[in-house]
Amino acid sequence: MSEAPPRPRRRRGPRLPKPPVPPAFLPRPLPPGTQRGAPRTALDHAAESGKVVVDWIDERTQLSGVTRWVMFRKVPRGTNWFYTLGSATMFAFLAQAVTGVFLAMYYRPDASGGAYESVRYISTSVFLGNFVRGMHKWGATVMVVLVFLHMARTFVWGAYKYPRELNWVIGVTLLILTMIMGFTGYLLPFDERSYWATIVGVNINGTGPVIGPYLSDFLRGGPEFNATTLSRFYAIHMLILPGAIAGLILAHLYLVTKLGTTAPPWVKATPEEPALGEETA
Ligand code: HEM
Repeated sequence: MSEAPPRPRRRRGPRLPKPPVPPAFLPRPLPPGTQRGAPRTALDHAAESGKVVVDWIDERTQLSGVTRWVMFRKVPRGTNWFYTLGSATMFAFLAQAVTGVFLAMYYRPDASGGAYESVRYISTSVFLGNFVRGMHKWGATVMVVLVFLHMARTFVWGAYKYPRELNWVIGVTLLILTMIMGFTGYLLPFDERSYWATIVGVNINGTGPVIGPYLSDFLRGGPEFNATTLSRFYAIHMLILPGAIAGLILAHLYLVTKLGTTAPPWVKATPEEPALGEETA
């Protein structure tokens, strides 16, 4: 009788520590004398049905795995407040998107006086209109400042190096799109200042080598600065750019999650404990 061939031994990967779940998400200990299981009060029933719905969705989508992957990551030793600048930029972008939607409910891209009138109406007559307009206007400046600070942080930390070059390139594109967002938005109130400042800006674009004249023609929508220019700026400002920025932010965050963040260059990794994202030999 021939001996059965030895069973191949199952190779187990390295045992990873459990993701650090914040205490608020852990199950609470029950009061003494009570049993886990049956809901007791109306609030328990409500919480129970909430869990059932979330479980039902999760079983079909596996979304909790993705959420865990994105939210509960380990960060390198030495992580500090400067690492929040990217998220702060993202928050500024989301605030711009929300306030922009409310402004778009009243704004009219009408070069024959309607645009100026609609902005005046938002500022003087719409409930909280001036406040929302102010948030959008100052929020634009905040986003530009934050994106530069975030870029400076990633530069000083050397986060543009291998393997994060692609994320740097996506970042540069986001920076350019953020600047174009500011440029196109500036024309929309269509008052004297925004009109003449945009003419200057478009002319400066026209001085660029080779593509300059084509670029300024594209921005104006022809050789003349007219009603088409305003509609074009509006479409770029509220449709093309927010969509492109949102898509690029998703790609940017995917890479951040996949590669992890860079450890500060002054924190030395010990051989037993390599910094996350650093290659191990
Ligand atoms: C709309 C603009 C942007 C948003 C919303 C954004 C968002 C973020 C977030 C949330 C992170 C992770 C946390 C952090 O390290 O701060 C990050 C990381 C990163 N960002 Fe941005 N970012 C933007 C623009 C830029 C720009 C302009 C650059 C550079 C040109 C850039 C390059 C990077 C790099 C290289 C990382 C990885 C950092 C590391 O490994 O430590 N980002 N970004």
